[in-house]
Amino acid sequence: MSRIAIIGTGYVGLTTGAYLSHLGHEVVCADVMPDKVAMLNRGEIPIYEAGLDELVRAGLDGGRLSFVLGAANAVEGAEFVFLCVQTPQGEDGSADLTYIQDAAAEIAPVLEAESVVINKSTVPVGSTRVVERALGRSDVFVVSNPEFLREGSAVHDCLHPDRIVIGSDDSAAAARVAGLFDQLQAPLIVTDPASAETIKYASNAFLATKISFVNAIANVCEAVGADVREVVLGMGYDKRIGFEFLKPGPGWGGSCFPKDSRALVRIAEDAGYDFGLLKGVITVNTEQYERVATKIEQAAGGSLGGVTVAVWGLTFKARTNDLRDSPALEVIGRLRQRGANAIKAYDPTVTGDIDGVEVCADAYAACEGATVLAVLTEWDDFRWLDFDKVKGLMAVPNVVDARNLLDPAALRRRGFFYVGVGR
Ligand code: UDX
Repeated sequence: MSRIAIIGTGYVGLTTGAYLSHLGHEVVCADVMPDKVAMLNRGEIPIYEAGLDELVRAGLDGGRLSFVLGAANAVEGAEFVFLCVQTPQGEDGSADLTYIQDAAAEIAPVLEAESVVINKSTVPVGSTRVVERALGRSDVFVVSNPEFLREGSAVHDCLHPDRIVIGSDDSAAAARVAGLFDQLQAPLIVTDPASAETIKYASNAFLATKISFVNAIANVCEAVGADVREVVLGMGYDKRIGFEFLKPGPGWGGSCFPKDSRALVRIAEDAGYDFGLLKGVITVNTEQYERVATKIEQAAGGSLGGVTVAVWGLTFKARTNDLRDSPALEVIGRLRQRGANAIKAYDPTVTGDIDGVEVCADAYAACEGATVLAVLTEWDDFRWLDFDKVKGLMAVPNVVDARNLLDPAALRRRGFFYVGVGR
C-alpha cells in the first residue's frame, strides 16, 4: 500500500482521496480553506454525492484518511501526489492553470525524491510539461491520469472505471501509478502525456456531441411529427451507436462539458485547427436553452409579461446539488429577459437565494398561481407527485417537460396541456 497526497478537495480530489483510502492506501488530502479542512476531518461532506460520506468516514475511522491545511503539509513522506485543483475557464475560453502552477510551486521544495506527481485536473494538452517546469525537480516524475467520474455517481465511477488512462514518458513511473489501481481490474491505457490529456477532452467533447446531436434530432422530430424516444430506441440497438447519452433535454451543462468543450475549441485553434464541428455542438446547445424558453413562452400564450412560471429542478442534472452552468438557470435567465413576472422554483437539493428566483420549500408551493410549469431537471421524485393537486394550484395547467420525465397521456387525461421535447 502506498502513501498518497491529494492536493485540492473539490469533487475530483475528495472522491479520489476517499476511494484510494478505501483501496487501502494511506491518504492525506490538502485544501486551502481552513473551515473545509475542519469539516472534512469531522467526516462532514460539503457536496451531495451518493456513498461518499461513508467512504470518508470509514477512511477517517480507519486512520487511512486525513485532511490538512496547505499542500506542502500533505506531501511529506508521500510517494504519489495527485494534483486535483480547479482549472477555471479563462477569458478566452482556455483553461486557467494558475492554481496548478501555484500548487506545484508550493510542493516543489518538500517533495520526496523519486515521488510521482500525478495530474488529475483537466488541463490543456502540454500541461504535464507546465507542471514539470513549475516543479523544477529532475528527481520527480510527472504523470497525467485524467478522471472520468460523473457527479452523482462519482464513487461508483471511481471504483468501477471503464478505463484507466496514464500518460507518461517514463514507463517505470507509469507502472508505479498503474499499481495504485490494481484492485480495480480496469482496462489500462498507458500512453504519452499529450495523448492522455487529449483523451479527456475528446471524451467529454464526444459525449457533448452525442447530446447536441440528439437534441438536434429532437428538433427534427418536432418538425416532422416523429417521436424522438422511438427514434433513439431504434438507433440504440445498433451496437455502434448505443443508448447512452442520447436523452434529449434542455441542453448540457455542469462543471465539465461547457468548460472543456470551449477549451478544446481553443486548444485546436491555438494549434492551427478550426474545430467547426465542436463549435456547432456548442451552438446547438445554446440554441436548446432558447428553444426551451420559447416553448415556455408559447405555452404561456406567446408572451411572458405578467406571467408566473413554476420550475421543477435547478441543478444541472439530477442526483447532484451542483448549479454550475446549469441549463435550468440558463433557461430561467432567458425567461426573465423575456419579461416573466415571477419564477417560483423547487429543487430537492437547493435552498437559499438565487437571483430572480423564489426558491420554494416543496414542488407544490412552486406551482401556486403559475401559468406554466417547466420541468428542467430530471429528479425522479417529480414523477410521483399528486398532479390533481398541482392542477388545482396552477392558474393554467400548462406543463413544459424539458426532460421528457412525466407521462404525457396521464397528464392530458387530468386536463393538462403538455409539451415535451422531440415528441
Ligand atoms: C461529465 C462526464 O460524463 C464525466 O465523464 C466527466 O469526467 C465530467 O463531465 P458530469 O458533468 O458529472 O460528467 O455530468 P453528465 O452526467 O455527463 O451530464 C452532463 C450534462 O449532460 C448534464 O447537464 C446532463 O443533464 C446532460 N445530459 C446527459 C443530457 O442532456 N442527456 C444525456 O443523455 C446525458
